[in-house]
Amino acid sequence: MPQAVSLPTWAALEEHYKTVGKTFVLKEAFAADPSRFEKLSKTFRNNGTDILFDFSKNLVTEETINLLVKLAEDAGVEKKRDAMFAGEKINFTEKRAVYHPALRNVSGWEMKVDGQDVMGGVNAVLQHMKVFSEQVRSGEWKGFTGKKLTNIINIGIGGSDLGPVMVTEALKHYGAKDMTLHFVSNIDGTHIAEALAKSDPETTLFLIASKTFTTAETITNANTAKSWFFEKTGGKGEIAKHFVALSTNEAEVTKFGIDSKNMFGFADWVGGRYSVWSAIGLSVVLYVGYDNFYKFLSGAHAMDKHFRETPLKDNIPVLAGLLSVWYSDFFAAQTHLVAPFDQYLHRFPAYLQQLFMESNGKTITSDGSPAKYTTGAVIFGEPCTNAQHSFFQLLHQGTKLIPTDFILAAKSHNPVSNNLHHKMLASNYFAQAEALMIGKTPEQVKSEGTPDELVPHKVFLGNRPTTSILVGGVIGPEELGALIAYYEHVTFTEGAVWDINSFDQWGVELGKVLATKILKELDEPGNGEGHDVSTGSLIGAFKKFASS
Ligand code: F6P
Repeated sequence: MPQAVSLPTWAALEEHYKTVGKTFVLKEAFAADPSRFEKLSKTFRNNGTDILFDFSKNLVTEETINLLVKLAEDAGVEKKRDAMFAGEKINFTEKRAVYHPALRNVSGWEMKVDGQDVMGGVNAVLQHMKVFSEQVRSGEWKGFTGKKLTNIINIGIGGSDLGPVMVTEALKHYGAKDMTLHFVSNIDGTHIAEALAKSDPETTLFLIASKTFTTAETITNANTAKSWFFEKTGGKGEIAKHFVALSTNEAEVTKFGIDSKNMFGFADWVGGRYSVWSAIGLSVVLYVGYDNFYKFLSGAHAMDKHFRETPLKDNIPVLAGLLSVWYSDFFAAQTHLVAPFDQYLHRFPAYLQQLFMESNGKTITSDGSPAKYTTGAVIFGEPCTNAQHSFFQLLHQGTKLIPTDFILAAKSHNPVSNNLHHKMLASNYFAQAEALMIGKTPEQVKSEGTPDELVPHKVFLGNRPTTSILVGGVIGPEELGALIAYYEHVTFTEGAVWDINSFDQWGVELGKVLATKILKELDEPGNGEGHDVSTGSLIGAFKKFASS
């Protein structure tokens, strides 16, 4: 596939940006076309709750959308999407299929890799997760002294942590009230030490979550946990009752001391950042129960179905991915903000950071040449209304264009004070998108009696693009599943247009290799020789400080 920049539609979009995009004024577009909202918003319909995606507050005309859709067609987005669902090895640098949709294939699509059905294996692991979680939740599965296991410690990092932690937080309302969850990811000993300090070995279940089972942080934390367990139980603790593994690597799991019957497996076609739907989601199943986990999978499957079957021009994640290309490559936007108006979604932006930035933080295109355009945006976010009182100043009056997604559920799980809190939350959700769009002119500021010298400081230029996502009810398991799958397919669409491999992560390797080498040097004589002067001096200073 040629780079998108050499497609005729790209040139057409450049021209369109110069003549329309650059000077486009959102509030004028609304004034000129009362049906703009109707034309540019889409509703995702599912058995569960509708989700409304309002794209109308973006810097686009109908012509922009037509051109972007044409760009997607010319860049082969449909072909690439179909190749993913057909189990083709679209992760071309690792020669792997990208098949996480199989993990949530609740309607029984035929799904094959290398001509072999994968659903038998997927369903067998799901069944194992169901049985195990029911045993633990009911107390039938007992620890070595006969007690119920109510303290879960998930040890994993990256995709083996961020998905489980985000989803268990998002679905806290559905969580077992007698269960305490800890997620240990960082190699900083503080992380495991704090979790262990709050744990009783008789009631603790460790989930060692690692696709490869070779990740240094996870294996080191797991070994520390194992030593703590033996020490605290005077060697009487039984690993088989207190440790399970979530992994693809049976040999390493067994070497660690976990029996393969206590291993929940998955295949190499599940990328780490796409793995919460797999065995890696065991903490979610334990916490919210299998039925809720199944609903979570169903919500994601409904979004898969939409993404797979809907024409590009009406395809919600495709449209969002194309908007992201529009802002990144034509408006030179470098960032993208996701602000959920939902406290339960407080780890959602962190989750999306890995999803988008590990997927699309790439320079090299499919033929090995560097992209001639900007790729993945820097994703950041915090829940609102907190974010408003922190960094929204820059959104409203800074010099940078920051396309933003706002997410709100129409109904709260906690309608306290007669739902006043939720109405205040909702009013801010509407107000922020409106304020970012309409701004405030010097004339308006003056008419409020503002002294002349203050007028420029109080002006809001407005015209800042937002996408508002409104969930029709509460955010339950199905809605959350659909939202995550939506962002996965937005990522897919961006990567398909940019012609990069959204499914490898070679960029994390160099730092890992250097850290392994330096770790040895910290115990050897010498003061950082063989490194550049800055790194060497820092190593030398560390050794001196640490030994004094
Ligand atoms: O180093 C990055 C990474 O490979 C991520 O892609 C992955 O989610 C994480 O590390 C953890 O990997 P594993 O599950 O194999 O321990």
